[in-house]
Amino acid sequence: MNFQPLQVEGELLSNKRVGAYHLITIVVPGIPERIRPGNFVALSVGGESTSTLLRRSFSVYQAQERGLYGGTLELVISAHGAGTRWLAALPPHQMINVVGPLGRPFPLPKDPVHALLVGGGYGSAPLFMLADALRQRGCRVDMALGAASADRLFGTLEARRVTNALSIATDDGSLGVQGRVTDAARSILERSNIDVIYACGPMPMLSALTTLGGEFDVMVQCAVEESMACGIGICMTCVLPVRGSDGVVRMSRSCVDGPVFAGDRVLWESIGSVPEETLGAPKASEH
Ligand SMILES: Cc1cc2nc3c(=O)[nH]c(=O)nc-3n(C[C@H](O)[C@H](O)[C@H](O)COP(=O)(O)OP(=O)(O)OC[C@H]3O[C@@H](n4cnc5c(N)ncnc54)[C@H](O)[C@@H]3O)c2cc1C
Ligand code: FES
Repeated sequence: MNFQPLQVEGELLSNKRVGAYHLITIVVPGIPERIRPGNFVALSVGGESTSTLLRRSFSVYQAQERGLYGGTLELVISAHGAGTRWLAALPPHQMINVVGPLGRPFPLPKDPVHALLVGGGYGSAPLFMLADALRQRGCRVDMALGAASADRLFGTLEARRVTNALSIATDDGSLGVQGRVTDAARSILERSNIDVIYACGPMPMLSALTTLGGEFDVMVQCAVEESMACGIGICMTCVLPVRGSDGVVRMSRSCVDGPVFAGDRVLWESIGSVPEETLGAPKASEH
């Protein structure tokens, strides 16, 4: 079920450094109970007099309906540009305007299946609510987390709590096995009967996992992170080529048609361009 998004003036409850990231908790009455795993929220950044007009999108790590202060959302922020640096530096009690829930959540299986959840860097954030939801349905949940280095992994302790088995891979070997998270996913696929893979992380990781899923005949549900401007389906900033069930390729908006897509429907090699076969694309002969 998709809920209509709300726009809420939230209050920052806490801001903690966790490895290379900032974990922020915002009191946002009304939104947490509407969040499903895979939904995202869009935050205005920069304060009242800012010239940074576009909201910034973030996956939801945890959504608590009730608490001492009211419903809260927890988000994981990787500070790099103007908006994320502003969020990472916020003191408690700062007001933040939040819109959510946005996007389509991860589709959940009807039957108790064996699921593999794969997260790259802060891309693990939406997988914890998903793991809880899957386990509530009787699913077995394995997880593979990967990042460049140990400080860029998020949620390894929490992952032990919400999963049946956890594999960790880092590029530099500072935690877990040295290598790519896709290598860890491959060895899980080789030794277990995985029914479905859920993944969130960088596009090359999602593309490689889709290929891997194809090798083992396992569906891969990918939460993509395409640059967004409006977040509500109007501006077409976030489009990527996706083949529909009718076989037709369309430029799909990842903010409203996604961010979760079946990996085998996405034309990964063509992201950033409009393939000629896309519905409505100009043909080479028309140039
Ligand atoms: C669904 C989703 C979930 C995400 N989850 C997380 C998360 O959990 N944690 C996290 O740290 N990050 C997450 N991100 C990434 C996060 O949104 C970006 O890192 C953030 O927007 C960067 O903002 P900035 O101001 O720091 O960077 P900057 O590079 O200064 O600004 C980037 C912003 O510029 C705008 N922009 C970019 N390209 C264009 C364009 N072509 N046209 C118009 N505007 C453009 C967009 O609003 C974009 O958000 C997520 C992104 C998406 C789409
Ligand atoms: S971000 Fe504007 S249509 Fe998706």
